[in-house]
Order: sequence, then structure tokens, then C-alpha cells
Amino acid sequence: FQETTFALIKPDGIKNMGRIIDLIFSNGFLIKELRMCKLSVEDARNFYKIHSGKPFYEALTQFMASGLCVAMDLVAENAVRRWRTLLGPTNSQDARDRDPNSIRALFGTDSTQNACHGSDSLESAKQESDFFFRDRNFGSCARLE
Ligand code: CMP
Repeated sequence: FQETTFALIKPDGIKNMGRIIDLIFSNGFLIKELRMCKLSVEDARNFYKIHSGKPFYEALTQFMASGLCVAMDLVAENAVRRWRTLLGPTNSQDARDRDPNSIRALFGTDSTQNACHGSDSLESAKQESDFFFRDRNFGSCARLE
């Protein structure tokens, strides 16, 4: 059966968003919702609050507020698992070693700047999608800096 997951192109992935969206379609996903937006540091802290206190939290939230993001709801069979498989390992260098065709291998830099995010369960997909598509209004800018 079809399920919906939440995907986020991070600021470092934006310059490759065309190629990332091609990969989304060529791997059989549909895009149900899509929004480009710019998070404030406070938005980023809220989105990643489950990581607060971790050593990478400050760098992660600053990075997420450093440029535009593209938020998407993706639909496919087993979308949660399949999107995470297409992303590859969190650390982009591990991704290049273990799964060279994955999105993080192709477009990520390290373990923080790793091109895209994917929800880890249907529950977080719903929560994360609501965060971007229902709960708030974000600033946006049509031109990349
Ligand atoms: P993401 O899938 O968005 O989920 C949490 C994010 O935190 C992760 O991708 C990375 O961007 C970042 N992250 C996770 N683990 C580390 C780590 N060990 N060092 C730095 N950043 C990390």
C-alpha cells in the first residue's frame, strides 16, 4: 500500500535540487506537497528538538537556517524506508564508501551537511510534514543567494 513520508532538501542540497527531484521521480515517488522556505534558527531548533543537547545540535541548527530548504511529502509503497535507503548513511563520507549512488554520497559533504533529511517513521513523517505544511508560515525567497 502507498504511504507518505516527509523529505527535506537542506541548504547545501539546494544547488542540486533539480537532480535530487529527478532521482525522486526516477525512483518511483510522487510529490504530494512541495514548499521552498527559509527557516529561522528558532524554527530549526524546534524542528530538530529531539537532538537538543547533542554535540552537533548548535552547528546543525545554524546550518539549517543558513539558506533555503525544500520540504516535500513523498508518496510510494514503503516510502519511509525507501526514501531513507535512497538517502544513504547520515555521514556523507560513509555514504560514498558504502552506497556511492545514494543522494548523500552524490550531494552531501559530511555528517551535518548531508543534502537531505528523511523521516524515520510514519509518525515522525506526519509530525514533520505538519511542521512545514500546517503549523507555520515560513519566509521564502525565489532567488538563491
Ligand atoms: P537528518 O537525517 O536530518 O537527522 C538529524 C541530522 O543531524 C542529520 O541528518 C545530520 O544532519 C545531523 N547529524 C546527525 N548525526 C550527526 C553527527 N554525528 N555529527 C554531526 N551532525 C549529525
